[in-house]
Amino acid sequence: MKLTYNFQKFSAKDYLKEYYPKFEKLDRDYLDFMHGFYKRLNLKSARMLEIGGGPTIDQLISASGKVKKIIFSEYLPDNLREVRGFVKNTPNGFNWDKHFAYVAKLENKGQDTEELKQRVRNKIKKIISCDLNKKIPVKVSGRFDVVSVNFCPESITDQEAKYLDYLRKIFDYIKSGGWLVMCLLRQSTAYDVKGFYFPAFPVSRPYITNVLRTNGFINLKIKEVVFRGKHNKGMFRLFAQKKK
Ligand SMILES: C[S@@+](CC[C@H](N)C(=O)[O-])C[C@H]1O[C@@H](n2cnc3c(N)ncnc32)[C@H](O)[C@@H]1O
Repeated sequence: MKLTYNFQKFSAKDYLKEYYPKFEKLDRDYLDFMHGFYKRLNLKSARMLEIGGGPTIDQLISASGKVKKIIFSEYLPDNLREVRGFVKNTPNGFNWDKHFAYVAKLENKGQDTEELKQRVRNKIKKIISCDLNKKIPVKVSGRFDVVSVNFCPESITDQEAKYLDYLRKIFDYIKSGGWLVMCLLRQSTAYDVKGFYFPAFPVSRPYITNVLRTNGFINLKIKEVVFRGKHNKGMFRLFAQKKK
C-alpha cells in the first residue's frame, strides 16, 4: 500500500461517497454522540470552532441547537466549496436529509428537517481556511467555548511529533473551562478514499487519555469503537473540558 501525503488528491465527493454511502448504524451512533454532548452543554452565547471539517456538516446539527455562532474551517478548497454549497442551498450538494431527520427525532421538539437545516445555515457565520502546518492554523480572534475536530489531526500525518504539534495548536483555541469534542481514528495507520490511502497516526486509548490529561483537560468521556480492518482499527469519540 502506497500512502498519499498530498491532500490535493482528496476529493470531497469521493470522500462523502466512501464514508457516507448510506445512512447506517455508525452514522446514527455519531449523531447520538453529538446529541448527547450538546444536550448537556450549558453555556450562554457559546462560540464554536470546527477544525478540518472536511465536506461534512452532520457534526453541526446538534451543535446548532446549542451554540450561537459556528466558525467552520477546513484545508481544501474543494471541501470548503461543498460546505458553502450547503449553506447557500445550491443544487447537487450532498443529501443530508436522513441525518437531519434523525436529529429532529432525537431532539423531539417537533421541528422538521428543513427547520433544522435552516438552523445550521443560520449558525454558520464564517467558512474559512485552516492549515494545521501553519503557526496560526485558523485566523480567528479569541478562544472558543467549543472546539470540534473530527478525524483530522491523526488523519493527516503518521508522525507523532506533527500529531502532537497539531493537537497543541487545536487545544490553544479552547477557552479555559471550554470543551473539546473530538472523534478520531483508533490505532489506525491509513484510510482509503477512492483508491488513495491517506496516512494516519495510530492513537490508543491510554495515549490520548494521557495527552489530554497532560494538556490540562478534565471530565474526559471517551467511547471506543473497534473495527477489524487491515489499516483502520476503529475510532474514538470523546469530549473533555479544559481546566479553568
Ligand atoms: C479524514 S478527513 C476528515 C474530514 C471531516 N472532519 C470528517 O469528520 O469527515 C481529514 C481532513 O483534514 C483536512 N486536512 C488536510 N490537511 C490539513 C491541514 N494541513 N490542516 C488542517 N486540515 C487538513 C482534509 O482536507 C480533510 O478534510
